[in-house]
Amino acid sequence: MKKGEKILFGIVAFLVVITVINFTVLETIRHHSDKPMYPILTHFVFSEEGKKGYEIYQQGGCYTCHRAVGSGTSMGVSLDGLGSKHDVNYFYQFLKDPEKTYGAKTLDHGAKPKDAAYVSGMPDKDLHLIAVFLSDLKAESGSSSAYEPPKGESSFIDAMLDMWVPDGWRSQFKDIRGSMKTKEEEGKHESGTK
Ligand code: HEC
Repeated sequence: MKKGEKILFGIVAFLVVITVINFTVLETIRHHSDKPMYPILTHFVFSEEGKKGYEIYQQGGCYTCHRAVGSGTSMGVSLDGLGSKHDVNYFYQFLKDPEKTYGAKTLDHGAKPKDAAYVSGMPDKDLHLIAVFLSDLKAESGSSSAYEPPKGESSFIDAMLDMWVPDGWRSQFKDIRGSMKTKEEEGKHESGTK
């Protein structure tokens, strides 16, 4: 072997060894810990209709673009937690007539030849069940799909507010973190119910 080849071979072997070590260590940690590697801030409790909706969601191939209930792809938006943002009615309207409902230009949902054009043509009954399923996917406060910020005090959020909030906003809007705390103290806090 030439010197250059030896160096190249050495670098590749080094990278392979590092990768194997990384993989082994991470897998070992994952298997021996009951804690998830990052907090999961979405949850779901399916109603009867929601369960049926989930089946139709799977048959409808939505997971080729979406992630929900912890599986699927990330080509489209993640649907976990979205039920805390919108209600059944919105989901039904969106599935039926996405371009009118979305409030922005759609990429995949809408008229042919968009890739998810078939969705609006699914039977009404199925779209309704899917809408119920989607509304069952809830988010806890602090999740990216929740309107509420994380619970508890956060010096980071305080600092960001100080830095970015335009002057007029303080008199115009209320900081809901105060009201969340009192609701919680009263034991009435329900995240995401409309
Ligand atoms: C070809 C990829 C693709 C398929 C298949 C697909 N979607 Fe989507 N979906 C998207 C994209 C991309 C968006 C973002 C809106 C857009 O650009 O169309 C989206 C947005 C959504 C939203 C969010 C609406 C909102 O206001 O936030 C919901 C709900 C949704 N899809 C449900 C479904 C369901 C249910 C199915 C199956 C019946 C499905 N999608 C199939 C790509 C897809």
